[in-house]
Amino acid sequence: MRIDVVTIFPEFFDVLDISLLGRARQTGILDVRAHNLRDFTHDRHRTVDDTPYGGGAGMVMKPEPWGEALDAVLGEGKPGELASAPVVIFPSPAGTVFTQKMARELAGREHLVFGCGRYEGIDQRVFEHTAERAEVRLVSLGDYVLNGGEVAVMAMIEAIGRLIPGVVGNPESLVEESHEDGLLEYPSYTKPATWRGLEVPPILLSGNHGAIERWRHEQQVERTRRVRPDLLPPE
Ligand code: ADE
Repeated sequence: MRIDVVTIFPEFFDVLDISLLGRARQTGILDVRAHNLRDFTHDRHRTVDDTPYGGGAGMVMKPEPWGEALDAVLGEGKPGELASAPVVIFPSPAGTVFTQKMARELAGREHLVFGCGRYEGIDQRVFEHTAERAEVRLVSLGDYVLNGGEVAVMAMIEAIGRLIPGVVGNPESLVEESHEDGLLEYPSYTKPATWRGLEVPPILLSGNHGAIERWRHEQQVERTRRVRPDLLPPE
């Protein structure tokens, strides 16, 4: 998979060199490139923002550098090829909420482009213009406000990247996780069986796989009901 990130802080994405995603980059499964939005400016100060039309607090990102940066990463995409169009994702608290389902769907695409906004956001025309040549999505990490899109993009790249075949060594470990079956995951334990006076639930030492499976499912349902009742179907 090819991932392009446009940002004013490309160094932010250096951490993608470590851990599982770092290895996926080395082996070529994942090709992530961070581009500096300021490289697409033409003034001495490499300006990427300006005051908002209509007044108001803060600054808005100018459309011209975004247009040129997206021209560069999207290439000369022809309208007839829209079926295989890249997905351009702009992280924004005004977007649809990012979920495991969305991560799974995006993990099946060939080319993702992330546009990291800062300040009060990006000139609206950038989204409209980009939608003519790619699939554009505004995506939110959750109902809170970050200073910019970088942290949100990092989270999305990790959630998507680990679902690409070959990135996580043991694909079975992806199945029994929170959100994969609509429930939160069950609690896990390892050795020793007693630690600081706390025991591992005896059923896990019983060797009865059927009973363990049932217990784990009950734990998932109980935990989901207690912590995230919104995930359960209405009764
Ligand atoms: N940028 C600022 N806040 C954000 C959020 N909650 N999700 C995604 N991008 C953001």
